[in-house]
Amino acid sequence: MEIRLWRELLIPYELAVKDLVMKFNLLKKEHREKNLYSPIEQVIGRVKSINSILEKMQDKQISWNELEDRIEDIAGVRIICQFCEDIEKVAELIRNRSDMKVLEEKDYVTHGKNSGYRSYHMIVSYCAETLAGKKEIHAEIQIRTLAMNFWATIEHSLQYKYKGNVPVDLANRLAKAADSVLELDEEMSLVRSEVMDAQKTMLHQSNLVADILNNIENLYYYANRSVAGEILQEFYQLYQEKNCKKLEYFYRELDSLAESYHAQALTYEDI
Ligand code: GTP
Ligand code: MG
Repeated sequence: MEIRLWRELLIPYELAVKDLVMKFNLLKKEHREKNLYSPIEQVIGRVKSINSILEKMQDKQISWNELEDRIEDIAGVRIICQFCEDIEKVAELIRNRSDMKVLEEKDYVTHGKNSGYRSYHMIVSYCAETLAGKKEIHAEIQIRTLAMNFWATIEHSLQYKYKGNVPVDLANRLAKAADSVLELDEEMSLVRSEVMDAQKTMLHQSNLVADILNNIENLYYYANRSVAGEILQEFYQLYQEKNCKKLEYFYRELDSLAESYHAQALTYEDI
């Protein structure tokens, strides 16, 4: 196949990966803005390299014509979660979306592979719209915890180094490490609600501080500069007390003050 045709072939996949990564990152952001715990911790995407596509075609005896049907991971997205319980939450978010259709699911979380690999896989079809028009492509979404990802990343490098024939003692070590990963995820699940609580509190304070400073800045630019300066000093003092309840009270007071100056939480669109 000509190089020009490879480029042409990969364009919709590149677009799909960018779209999907952006959409999942936005879901994470939306959770955070609503002070909600996000089951999505990190999103990574990649388009399979031509080298890896050629390798897979060779290994699985795939012809040019079958390429797009039989290689389902030309577009690949990996969603990393903190806890095992988050994986199902993410899968459900994906099932409920109208901009992608789930074609297949593989649960290697409850049924780990012999190698020790654990992850939840979904093959989705996604409509990529390019200059050439609409095209339904396949994308593989892998959902796994941070611990599962750590193991899979290390194991993948070793598989690559040994071209799939990892020496027995090393394979045994990896299998043992996979048991530890499972144990680690289970152990972490036991403190999940505590961790979620802590993260929500941190998030709440971080959003609160951002809102307070936004209001003070608006007061500075659109109302009374000296009042804004005084309030800022007051805020710094209060901040040192590390008392979220007092900050909330301060925010409410500030909000009504800003309202009286019509300088309340102006956004970019308002300016
Ligand atoms: P592929 O030809 O790899 O697509 O096999 P498949 O269609 O049977 O899909 P499967 O769900 O088994 O694997 C898809 C992807 O999951 C692979 O391309 C890897 O990224 C990942 N994966 C599967 N098994 C392993 C494993 O044992 N170790 C690691 N590190 N990754 C794996
Ligand atoms: Mg596959």
